[in-house]
Amino acid sequence: MTDHSKRKRPEDLRSHRWYGVKDLRSFGHRSRTAQMGYHRSDYAGKPVIAIINTWSDINPCHSHFKQRVEEVKRGIWQAGGFPVEMPAMSLSEPFQKPTTMLYRNLLAMETEELLRSYPADGCVLMGGCDKTTPALLMGAASMDLPTIFVPAGPMLRGNWNGQTLGSGSDTWKYWAELRAGNITEEDWQGVEDGIARSPGHCMTMGTASTMTAAVEALGMCLSGYSSIPAPDSRHAQMATLSGKRIVEMVWQDITPSSLLTAASFDNAVRTVLALSGSTNAVVHLIAMARRCGFPLDLDRFDNLARSTPVLANLRPSGKYLMEDFYYAGGLRALMVQLGDLLDTTQQTVDGRTLGENIAGARVFHEDVIRSREQALVPCDGLAVLRGNLAPDGAVIKPPAMEARLQTHTGRAVVFKDYNDMAARIDDPNLDVDADSVIVLQNAGPQGAPGMPEWGQLPIPQKLLKQGVRDMLRISDARMSGTSYGACVLHVAPESYVGGPLALVRDGDLITLDVPNRRLDVRLSDAELAERRAAWQAPPPRFERGYGVLYLKHISQADSGCDFDFLQTGQREQAAGEPEIH
Ligand code: FES
Repeated sequence: MTDHSKRKRPEDLRSHRWYGVKDLRSFGHRSRTAQMGYHRSDYAGKPVIAIINTWSDINPCHSHFKQRVEEVKRGIWQAGGFPVEMPAMSLSEPFQKPTTMLYRNLLAMETEELLRSYPADGCVLMGGCDKTTPALLMGAASMDLPTIFVPAGPMLRGNWNGQTLGSGSDTWKYWAELRAGNITEEDWQGVEDGIARSPGHCMTMGTASTMTAAVEALGMCLSGYSSIPAPDSRHAQMATLSGKRIVEMVWQDITPSSLLTAASFDNAVRTVLALSGSTNAVVHLIAMARRCGFPLDLDRFDNLARSTPVLANLRPSGKYLMEDFYYAGGLRALMVQLGDLLDTTQQTVDGRTLGENIAGARVFHEDVIRSREQALVPCDGLAVLRGNLAPDGAVIKPPAMEARLQTHTGRAVVFKDYNDMAARIDDPNLDVDADSVIVLQNAGPQGAPGMPEWGQLPIPQKLLKQGVRDMLRISDARMSGTSYGACVLHVAPESYVGGPLALVRDGDLITLDVPNRRLDVRLSDAELAERRAAWQAPPPRFERGYGVLYLKHISQADSGCDFDFLQTGQREQAAGEPEIH
């Protein structure tokens, strides 16, 4: 552990190699800094703080970052640092095709390499929209400079015709009602206009809210701030405070490796489970932990889920939205309820332990943040399934599905890829009923590619009209954290690389048994072997560019979908980084 009583000297700063030495290259660094209007007194002997900003004109979740970055800079200046904004790829969930997940590792690499190649002594990470959070943290953890995360904060509650609307969750709900003929096109447009009405990320307990909460539980952002609504003035204050704090963290040399431990990742997993957070957190936290050298795996999630109650009554599993959660006391209050399920001795960016951070936090609305006695669900906010259909695992979110489907057997209705599904799902002649099991193949990390959030497979229109609102659905895709339903996700190995999901055919009987954590197709080993022998690998999805690198190095969902060459050894490399001239 880092000795926080020791302070760095200016000549110990990493940026000293750029600004402090007397050679030809440093002449260039100083003269070009002067070219930008800075006097040497602005930076000499001061920590250079890189602000990795994922603002973009096409990312509505980060539209306030243009202003927030100025507030971060204000804090850095006030604390005696030198702020340097470094724009990075903005992974905009609503716009990027086929999926932002294809680019999570690219942003992680960009973050790491920006920090490595420029004179950064510490960094502020500005993110929030789904993949930006894990990507930024993965890159920064690998580089291991003092780091603080500034979460984008959730947008305000949606509103339409006096009804509260939640990102994603109410989109799926009203889309189903439109397809069932229960609302008009005009109603649908009203939902479109009212569901996203301020800057900030999705305000349900989707992937963004889940991952920023995980970051706070990991101790990587200022305590109590991950759930402040983006337009709230306290959000701007948090940005300035983060700028001030990172400067002190550099002098104290508080690095990610001194904060991120196996126990802090357990805290993050517990917190995500208590929030009934997005299943995407499974993939991201495994990737983040493995960057730090901790072998977090699916079984750890399942083990912790068995003793972690769901305490947050938030959509899609519950009733309320993030604005309500913040006013009810926010994450500190929830963590107080978790009590001894957390290791409160873990250190945080605040310079205090988690326990010191959350001491005294209170719940102000007991239906939003429940006590353990009044838990929304006593345990099993997430379940990891295995069986002959998912030898390396799959996940499901039991609180977000109709309970009758937790133990279910039905006939498979198989779609070989997304386009096949889109073309046939609403065919009135499709041989499907409410007990059928809808299977989507080739939607995984390599198959889609990028493992998009296609896992909430649509219910056939003819069944919607009969009133069916949930069915068992299985894929190797992910699912938006704002989604719900009996959706088995992340099936590994994926069908594209020959996992058993690729061998399922129409009419096969599939059994889901959540209490016993099983997912099986009722086929003999001999039948599966015969089908495997006849299976042909699909052609590669990419023949040039980043996609080729991606396909060659991407790991399966149970390993976090990181690139194999990034998972290990990075800290050692950073520590032994060659002198840069
Ligand atoms: Fe950005 Fe949901 S679209 S968080």
